[in-house]
Amino acid sequence: MAIRPILTAPDPRLKTISKPVERVDDALRALMDDMLDTMYDAPGIGLAAIQIGVPQRVIVMDLAGKDEEKQPRFFVNPEILWRSEDLSFYEEGCLSVPEMYEDVQRPARIRARWLDYHGQEVEMEADGMLATCLQHEMDHLEGVLFIDHLSKLKRDIILRKMTKAKKRAAVG
Ligand code: NI
Repeated sequence: MAIRPILTAPDPRLKTISKPVERVDDALRALMDDMLDTMYDAPGIGLAAIQIGVPQRVIVMDLAGKDEEKQPRFFVNPEILWRSEDLSFYEEGCLSVPEMYEDVQRPARIRARWLDYHGQEVEMEADGMLATCLQHEMDHLEGVLFIDHLSKLKRDIILRKMTKAKKRAAVG
């Protein structure tokens, strides 16, 4: 298990379309363990493999509260089968867009299917935080960030701030 560096916008690798996983094996589980460690360390509630530079359709998540027991979730090759017409707003953030938070509107409920940590197929309907977080993370697999759901003006302001922060960090 290891903590890996997280890519931040506007890193072009975040625009990669991730490839389907062919087999859920020990190598993939090692990747998922690293992703979980990296996410907990950040700390964050969700992470897609591309955020650590691995273009595979893998997501880890834990929506447990601070004082609750950990509830790690693993999503391999997730697909959305159905989206509700009703929408909900959530203030979203992203480990690849640190310290930026904006309201994003998405379908309030979804039905999704994926493979779990052991390669077992799971299908379920999700709402609330799980629905939002899964859609946010699945966007990463298509090279989409939550800021891509905002107006161009808002997105440009955020990206300018990110670029400036990176330059400052590089200078020291
Ligand atoms: Ni994100």
